[in-house]
Amino acid sequence: MSYLCPLCHSPLAAQEKSFVCPQGHQFDKAKEGYVNLLPVQHKHSRDPGDSTEMMQARRAFLDAGHYQPLRDAICQVLTCFAPEKLLDIGCGEGYYTAGFAGALTGLTGDIWGLDVSKVAIRYAAKRYSQVQFCVASSHRLPFGDSSLGAVVRIFAPCKAEELARVVKPGGVVITATPGPRHLMQLKALIYQEVLLHSQEVESLPGFVEEQTQHISWPMTLKGEEAAALLQMTPFAWRARPEVREALKAEAAFACETDFVVRVWRREG
Ligand SMILES: C[S@@+](CC[C@H](N)C(=O)[O-])C[C@H]1O[C@@H](n2cnc3c(N)ncnc32)[C@H](O)[C@@H]1O
Ligand SMILES: [Zn+2]
Repeated sequence: MSYLCPLCHSPLAAQEKSFVCPQGHQFDKAKEGYVNLLPVQHKHSRDPGDSTEMMQARRAFLDAGHYQPLRDAICQVLTCFAPEKLLDIGCGEGYYTAGFAGALTGLTGDIWGLDVSKVAIRYAAKRYSQVQFCVASSHRLPFGDSSLGAVVRIFAPCKAEELARVVKPGGVVITATPGPRHLMQLKALIYQEVLLHSQEVESLPGFVEEQTQHISWPMTLKGEEAAALLQMTPFAWRARPEVREALKAEAAFACETDFVVRVWRREG
């Protein structure tokens, strides 16, 4: 399977140092091994997606193993489906994608990670050579119709029409979204009134919801880890600098996690 050209949608042929389509559109491979398939005219900002600070905070937090139960749960679901081709949408710095590659060892080479953040993909590709990474938008996936057996989407946006287009009949989409009590104690530091996460289930036309799993566990974080958690969430924009400093000074910050993992089966 090859990528599609983001400009004319023809298949891209892999050459030694680049990918080229029959129309001559060329995309160079970066020295870390990834390819940037986000043409300038498809960008909505200069550096879309997560920033370097968010990405580094996420890497430090994930490396410490605080979200490993979520990764393990998705790996377990994936091993049941044993997809031939897997895409992790909004893969960030690659922690989960590499976990999936480890769980599906027979599949190495057929696992893709995609994110709109160039810095996240650079870090991902540098560390995890067993996965093929690209910079692209989830609103225009550079993959052919019905070309993927499974797509994972952890806290990342994607157009439902694109999922229905790229996942083959009988294939699956696995989503991880926040449960009602996710990171309540962190939110309490920022918002006067803490609202539970909405539990409205998204609609994915063309898919049938097949499994729903609720996963939650308590975390006790050192000050630096709690500050990294804040930094990697959208709440970081709202937090006053004093909140971050106070978190850093915490000896043990107790915080709940709450995730919902859903499996959606492509109809047809
Ligand atoms: C909350 S992070 C989750 C990252 C990773 N899945 C994780 O859980 O650690 C959301 C990710 O989606 C990416 N993202 C945001 N908009 C995107 C888009 N339109 N296309 C692809 N990726 C996008 C961000 O750059 C970021 O890496
Ligand atoms: Zn082209």
